[in-house]
Amino acid sequence: MPEFPQMRLRRLRDSEAIRRLVCETEVNAGDLICPLFVSQKRSAKQEIPSMPGVYRYTVDSIKREAQEIAANGIGAVLLFGVPDKKDKLGSAAYSHSGVVQRAIAAIKDKVPELLVITDVCLCGYTNHGHCGVLDGERIDNDRTLELLAKVATSHAEAGADMVAPSAMMDGQVKAIREALDDCGFSHIPIMSYAAKYASAFYGPFREAAGSAPQFGDRRSYQMDPSNVRQALREVELDIAEGADIVMVKPALAYLDVIRAVSDRFEHPLAAYNVSGEYAMVKAAAASGWIDERQTVLEILTAIRRAGADIIITYHARDAARWLSDKA
Ligand code: PBG
Repeated sequence: MPEFPQMRLRRLRDSEAIRRLVCETEVNAGDLICPLFVSQKRSAKQEIPSMPGVYRYTVDSIKREAQEIAANGIGAVLLFGVPDKKDKLGSAAYSHSGVVQRAIAAIKDKVPELLVITDVCLCGYTNHGHCGVLDGERIDNDRTLELLAKVATSHAEAGADMVAPSAMMDGQVKAIREALDDCGFSHIPIMSYAAKYASAFYGPFREAAGSAPQFGDRRSYQMDPSNVRQALREVELDIAEGADIVMVKPALAYLDVIRAVSDRFEHPLAAYNVSGEYAMVKAAAASGWIDERQTVLEILTAIRRAGADIIITYHARDAARWLSDKA
């Protein structure tokens, strides 16, 4: 192998044109999924204080946003509902007239070509803020499965193109797959939050969705940040249960997990660039401490480089715009 001074790697960095030629990782708007919050309240859209630029939309105002997202070439939206009423069993999550169900119909009516994915969980709908049904202070796994299956089928009935279970209950993918198939939705894919960690980076999301647990924490169902081999088992099981796309969440502190999953499995892999990751970038940029555009594009590139095919990110709209003016 030639060495310095014959070999000089800077030759490949000498101009924009040659850098582009040897670029190993690309981010495209079509790989991005934009999360959207929809609230039952009828008042105008409301900005989320810890997530500048992210709003809780109404069923009416979300249509316009969906149209713009589609016009930016973004791959899909991921819907989260913020219901008016919460109860022990999260019944607003599987009500036919629930806020997500109405938002799905509104978006599909206005922008039929936009892929609509829905988060399937109970934490935004239960008065205790946990992702499943309680048995005392424990979360009852198997009773929760029945409800998650009802949530997923109600989303499919409303017109969702894909469902994304995030409750971290054992067997949730299988329960949802069976329910969808029984109800005539065998064509609807499942994107499973397969390796979802118990993370402090979800803080701003919980403010946005009003979904913080009212007692305890989520460590009896979400993963311990110390573990990576266990993430591979989670992914393997979800694939065996019928997941079509698997996910690692959060993204930035878990790039090694993304890499490990992408090395091991052939399924399309999504990574969730979560609310706390977004909030940190926005706060530092607002203080003038980092350049937002450069930082966001670097982060998205790093997540793709680690092995993610798909990135769920609150930066999706800005990133799509930036990516198109670069071209
Ligand atoms: C619902 C859910 C959460 C997120 C996505 N789905 C919150 C949680 O588990 O507490 C977090 C998303 C984010 O922080 O951006 N279970």
